Amino acid sequence: MNRIRFIVLFFLSLSADFFLLSFSAAKHQPPTKKNSVSSRTSVILPVQGNVYPLGYYSVSLKIGNPPKVFDFDIDSGSDLTWVQCDAPCTGCTKPRDSLYKPKNNVLRCADPICSAVQYPGNQPCNSPTEQCDYKVDYADHGSSLGVLVMDSFPLKFSNGSTLGPRLAFGCGYDQEYHGTPPPTAGVIGLGNGKAGILSQLTQMGLTRNVVGHCLSERGGGYLFFGDDFVPSSGISWIPILAKPSEDYYLSGPAELYFGGKLTGLKGLDVIFDSGSSYTYLNSQSYDAVVSLVTKSLIGKPLKNATDDRSLPLCWRGNKAFKTVQEAKTFFTPLALSFTNAKKAQLQMPPESYLIVSKYGNVCLGILNGSEVGLGNLNIIGDISMQGKMVIYDNEKKQIGWGPANCDRLPNVEGEYVEDILKPSCAANNFGIAAERNCPSGLLFE
Ligand SMILES: *[C@@H]1O[C@H](CO)[C@@H](O)[C@H](O)[C@H]1NC(C)=O
Ligand SMILES: *[C@@H]1O[C@H](CO)[C@@H](O)[C@H](O)[C@H]1NC(C)=O
Ligand SMILES: *[C@@H]1O[C@H](CO)[C@@H](O)[C@H](O)[C@H]1NC(C)=O
Repeated sequence: MNRIRFIVLFFLSLSADFFLLSFSAAKHQPPTKKNSVSSRTSVILPVQGNVYPLGYYSVSLKIGNPPKVFDFDIDSGSDLTWVQCDAPCTGCTKPRDSLYKPKNNVLRCADPICSAVQYPGNQPCNSPTEQCDYKVDYADHGSSLGVLVMDSFPLKFSNGSTLGPRLAFGCGYDQEYHGTPPPTAGVIGLGNGKAGILSQLTQMGLTRNVVGHCLSERGGGYLFFGDDFVPSSGISWIPILAKPSEDYYLSGPAELYFGGKLTGLKGLDVIFDSGSSYTYLNSQSYDAVVSLVTKSLIGKPLKNATDDRSLPLCWRGNKAFKTVQEAKTFFTPLALSFTNAKKAQLQMPPESYLIVSKYGNVCLGILNGSEVGLGNLNIIGDISMQGKMVIYDNEKKQIGWGPANCDRLPNVEGEYVEDILKPSCAANNFGIAAERNCPSGLLFE
């Protein structure tokens, strides 16, 4: 499966409208009161999934009382969290008893959160007492239509408290998919828009306005809200570009390096999007990367595998590859250098842009964004964020990344980790994701 969950609303007019928020502006924010800092903690959630063959990473979240568990595709390219809804539903992929059932908890149009989902093209509310409808359209032409509801999300915080904040989210009763429908029950949006759960948790004073993820190359990983797990050093930070909406994370300009040398490709605007399986470059950059990679393979024991349709470009070795590690020696590292941030570099070693297909060929996980309608935008997808901690800090308006072992949770007290992982892990057998493995082998050895 190959999804591009990045919300399409303003992006056609993007390049004209955004401007840069400088680091110095971020530094001059008023200092936060000390007591408010210490009373906010974090939430950490184990992640399942992989880039290939699944094409997504997901988390399980409980909703309601008694709580029911749902699995959500993790998407930093949008803000609204929604779940398949028994309203009744068209385009729901889960059995009816695994859908969310709204019960007199529909949000009204008068609610301020509702105005945050009145995207252009959405039906405007006629009266403040009407139910608040939403529709999200994703870049891969998938969409979800439904109604906003409010319910409690039992969450365990890093200080040991379990709270059930009531959060607004979408109850999606009309989904459309392009290609294979996703196996998850919904999408968890990590964007900072007002309708998102990050912004709601922040407004309630429960966590800082920071979210991050660590997606393992071996599959799985973790996701967190709040800044408790952000290392104090070793992170490269780049400013988030201001734009007409806060629903996703845009940065740039960046220039592209191939094998440590400048390619001449520069001025790239990039979206960090955990909702995209692969990385997308605009047509010009894509063409250049394909020709550089192709040239670099001359004389190496790799042949075009045009019969392998796993991805547009695949190569066959002398014998079938089992892992990317076996194939990576033939490939050259890429890097994106962000020119407005002391040349912070996002390293993309071969394992950040290659997969090994089920036929044992190695395939390019960088795709032509122009071909799928992304225009001039570039997307850093899951494949290029694997093996790194990626942090979206909306307080300091910056995106950061650093090396991390995503197979293990970051330093937290052992007790808390076991506590939080075990129930959530067991929850996977709750008729929802029975086919998926619990990540315990990786996380508690
Ligand atoms: C733990 O953190 C939560 C969320 O920030 C807060 O509401 C709660 O009061 C804290 N609990 C304790 C025991 O400090
Ligand atoms: C392999 O594919 C690339 C990209 O489509 C092309 O440029 C190249 O000429 C092909 N090589 C061979 C040997 O067919
Ligand atoms: C990328 O997509 C654009 C737009 O569809 C197309 O013109 C271009 O030829 C594509 N590049 C390659 C290498 O396929």
